[in-house]
Amino acid sequence: MSPLPCVPSAQSGKQARGLHVITWGCQMNVYDSARMTDVLRPLGYRAVDAPDNADMIILNTCHIRDRAAEKVFSELGRLRLVKEARAQAGHKTVLAVAGCVAQAEGREILARAPYVDIVLGPQTYHRLPEMVARAARAAGAVIETDFPVEQKFDFLPPEREVPAGGAAFLTIQEGCDKFCSFCVVPYTRGAEASRPVNAVLEEARRLVAHGVKEITLLGQNVNAYHGEGPDGAIWGLARLTAELADGIGVARIRYTTSHPRDMDADLIAAHRDQRALMPFLHLPVQSGSDRVLAAMNRGHTAQEYRDLVTRLRAARPDLALSSDFIVGHPGETEDDFEQTMQLIRDVGFAQAYSFKYSPRPGTPASGAGGQVPEEVKDARLQKLQALLREQQDAFNAATVGRRVSVLFTGRGRKPGQISGKSPYLQAVHVDGPDSLIGQVAEVDIVKLYTNSLGGVLTGETGKA
Ligand code: 5AD
Ligand code: SF4
Repeated sequence: MSPLPCVPSAQSGKQARGLHVITWGCQMNVYDSARMTDVLRPLGYRAVDAPDNADMIILNTCHIRDRAAEKVFSELGRLRLVKEARAQAGHKTVLAVAGCVAQAEGREILARAPYVDIVLGPQTYHRLPEMVARAARAAGAVIETDFPVEQKFDFLPPEREVPAGGAAFLTIQEGCDKFCSFCVVPYTRGAEASRPVNAVLEEARRLVAHGVKEITLLGQNVNAYHGEGPDGAIWGLARLTAELADGIGVARIRYTTSHPRDMDADLIAAHRDQRALMPFLHLPVQSGSDRVLAAMNRGHTAQEYRDLVTRLRAARPDLALSSDFIVGHPGETEDDFEQTMQLIRDVGFAQAYSFKYSPRPGTPASGAGGQVPEEVKDARLQKLQALLREQQDAFNAATVGRRVSVLFTGRGRKPGQISGKSPYLQAVHVDGPDSLIGQVAEVDIVKLYTNSLGGVLTGETGKA
């Protein structure tokens, strides 16, 4: 991950040390990496581009899909060489493995890669400074993969790195109690927990004060949010987004990732009533077959998902949908797969992520009968992705000729170009000044590229 520009915070006067964080996986890992950097800043650590210049390297890992542990061990092999080369030049390097692979395979990591100094799970990164101190003192490695009783968020510094470009992530909820048959998250991230409303508002207030226009609220089950409010009541996500927009002044709000079962009437109404809520929703369905949905323990049918989409589109007619799909879950037949294809045709997605089922150790589906052969999964994935690609292209093509608000998040690839995001999360490029980066402006969309759109600035500042 490239280092992010820092907002000046309390200077510690400590000697500057290089910190290189490598981030794999989901947006929550991106957020976690940024917060680990924040936690280490008082110790004098500053982000550097390359591991060769780093006094500390953190590999923040993802366990969700295939060969996660093998990828970690191969990356660790590379980092070991960096560490050894630096040692020869007289520099010590602290090597840490964080994230979900660390949580799931901590002991194995220390056994197979004894040159690793620290292993920490996602719930303990607020303890990093103490772990670094222990690693410096101790002869052996430090491992912290429990689920501590204290909330890590209570121990994080209030100041955080604010990315340039006006968009930021904010974790409001973590963990999951849904136990889908295929998924490791309930085991690696622990039980579902929501941050209190005031903590979320305070973090958002700081982001807005530093120029952030768009906040993406993160959680493994973000629409199950139920944080304790300042009034003692439990707030759902719809109430939280209303307060973020009206009370804090967040211009654009997104949230990810959601479960269909937690999409309640308040949240659907929020898509009708709250202009700050962007008209793009990632709502994973995984399969279009009731048999497979039941085997996955998803807790809803394909028709319930279709009905939900109908209600959402009645509330917000221009809502663009995105989803996750898994092909080849144990027991999936050709007919089940065809039902997934039909659901995709019926709903129409602006974007989607699709995966071949991969058995994750310790999950119920990994030991189930009816495992689908690899070549069958390959063929199904190809068909599914071709259909999703068609839909994505059609959705983007339909934006040509429209005027949309774009939040400019950075420079484009060509000189003089800047790029950003439409309300529907499409990448948009225009010729424009750098001064618009971090701002919202109105754009006429004139051109369709493979994965993005070309536009012309209208001269109007954007609405959101
Ligand atoms: N195999 C394939 N895909 C998976 N996902 C989660 N676990 C697995 C697995 N074992 C996918 C799901 C989920 C997304 C984040 O990753 O589609 O929604
Ligand atoms: Fe995993 Fe999402 Fe299912 Fe929770 S709801 S178990 S995070 S796929």
